[in-house]
Amino acid sequence: MKQFVTVYGAEPDGVWAAPGRVNLIGEHTDYNDGFVLPFALPQRTLVAASRVDTPTWTVWSEQADEQITFDLSERVPGWGAYVAGVVWVLREAGFDVPGARMAVTSDVPLGAGLSSSAALESSVLTALADLGGLDLPVDERPRLAQRAENDYAGMPCGIMDQSAAIRCREGHALFLDCRTLDVEHIPFDVAAAGLAVLVVDTKAPHRHVTGEYAARRTACEEAARLLGLPALRDATLESLSTLDSPELRRRARHVITEDQRVLDTVALLRGGRVREIGPLMTASHASMRDDFEITVPEVDTAVEAALSAGAHGARMTGGGFGGCVLALVDAGETDRVAAAVASAFAQRGFSPPEPFVAVPGPGALRL
Ligand code: GLA
Repeated sequence: MKQFVTVYGAEPDGVWAAPGRVNLIGEHTDYNDGFVLPFALPQRTLVAASRVDTPTWTVWSEQADEQITFDLSERVPGWGAYVAGVVWVLREAGFDVPGARMAVTSDVPLGAGLSSSAALESSVLTALADLGGLDLPVDERPRLAQRAENDYAGMPCGIMDQSAAIRCREGHALFLDCRTLDVEHIPFDVAAAGLAVLVVDTKAPHRHVTGEYAARRTACEEAARLLGLPALRDATLESLSTLDSPELRRRARHVITEDQRVLDTVALLRGGRVREIGPLMTASHASMRDDFEITVPEVDTAVEAALSAGAHGARMTGGGFGGCVLALVDAGETDRVAAAVASAFAQRGFSPPEPFVAVPGPGALRL
């Protein structure tokens, strides 16, 4: 990577990559032991790295336009926390993590709900595991990357994003059972079905994301506790009438119905019935808007405009309060649907959205 050579004056030992993701369906189900169905984006984070002999880590980031150096005695703030958190979690897990010099570049949009942080954690983890020859099976890596984010960076996320960044396969969506961590790679060839997945970055300013996310997670855990269950994965719609709080009932209803929508989506995709997943996507959006209350006017506008312009289904993807919308559209219609969303945004005085077409790419790898 030319940036590594410019910064450190030598070739790196290797270059590793991990992608951003979109989630086709299954939102806020991961930390409820439920089901998710993300796929990896072609946009990814690259880490060029070389081993050094001392336990120090020097990281230059093109996006931050900054170089940091840390050792084991420091707690690193800001973007560096996603790198230092990985070093920390690997050591916590008993691994002898090699010191390293790294250069990081990425085309995963930041703060757009496309898991740029998981891409950074996962690319660094993959690089350090290879550089150090660590005996770390791929299916154990997402849990470590998630812990780096939970316990070091301080975001109480579930396991979806790190699983997507590490375990996805090109041309497939990742059907993940977040309780067992079993995965099934579901072929997702939208082009063969004459379709495309249009992603629209709404550019909506994220509002109180971490606090609202944590509040949803707490509400779900509280609902499961009141129902006497280990997690909402085990709850039924019938049982919800025993919850006194209408808000908790709504939150739990989202999770229960969303898990079912993931299973229904997987069943349709297994049968090659791609177009028919559209209504499930749209129902997922309504559930996030009305029951889980995590949408904002920009994402609701984007979904409505896409559907009015002929999308077969549309929904917000990711944690909520901004971020991106996915629309399943006929292959020749992506520009027209994107233009319809842009025009709806202009009418409402929102900043121009940024559309792109997403094709499922591979998970983390050495280049
Ligand atoms: C964020 C989190 C994930 C998941 C989604 C919502 O992306 O990082 O763990 O909870 O929100 O589905």
